[in-house]
Amino acid sequence: MTQDVWTAVDKYITDLLVPSDPALEASLQAASAAGLPPIQVSPVQGKLLHLLARACGARQVLEIGTLGGYSTIWLARALPAGGRVVTLEADPKHAEVARANFSHAGLTGVIELRQGPALETLPKLAAEGRGPFDLIFIDANKSNMPEYFDWALKLSRAGSVIIADNVIRNGAVLDAASGDDNIQGVRRFNERLAAEKRVSATEIQTVGSKGYDGFALAVVNSDS
Ligand code: SAH
Ligand code: DHB
Ligand code: MG
Repeated sequence: MTQDVWTAVDKYITDLLVPSDPALEASLQAASAAGLPPIQVSPVQGKLLHLLARACGARQVLEIGTLGGYSTIWLARALPAGGRVVTLEADPKHAEVARANFSHAGLTGVIELRQGPALETLPKLAAEGRGPFDLIFIDANKSNMPEYFDWALKLSRAGSVIIADNVIRNGAVLDAASGDDNIQGVRRFNERLAAEKRVSATEIQTVGSKGYDGFALAVVNSDS
């Protein structure tokens, strides 16, 4: 049971449960046409983010790592009227493609894209008094994941949901001696998550069209 089966089953689930959506499809087309790497969440994962946002009644969402805005659109579509997604993207080209996608999806008033390295924009958001965010999705460069988690905590409240993508990396996360900064970032994040008393967390391994990876899910405790 490997990639071919995971991809076929992902398609089976997608065909059943994730109806095609013109704006989401267009965002993928535009990202591909612009040469962006095809590393966005899969359709079933996008819908999972959307459902989690709805399940927790999120109104204010923070995303770290926009790419072409595929996951951002899924999240934005989960919000009630007046809700907002703030999404952070370092790469100007990715930001430009994402902005066009948000405009095409009619979400310009819902999504606020801040272009720049997230470790520069996160302190600015805090200084502006933004937050608390009800749901935070961490999905940028993996080497800074522990720092993103620290900012997520600063910008959250009791009950906030923090989700991080790519916490398993094909099992490479087991390699304590890895020379890959991204793997070391994920490992430090996982250790940080385990040690952090202010959250209760778990991780779920995933297989599908994006291979073998996983999500972390944390909820900020009410006594924090
Ligand atoms: N969340 C997107 C995928 C994000 S891919 C989706 O599922 O649709 C990761 C993105 O993080 C890339 O666009 C990359 O340019 C961006 N990124 C990398 N380093 C960053 C940094 N330091 N600050 C902000 N964004 C960064
Ligand atoms: C990469 C980044 C991601 O967020 C992802 O989901 C898959 C791959 C990457 O940088 O290779
Ligand atoms: Mg990811």
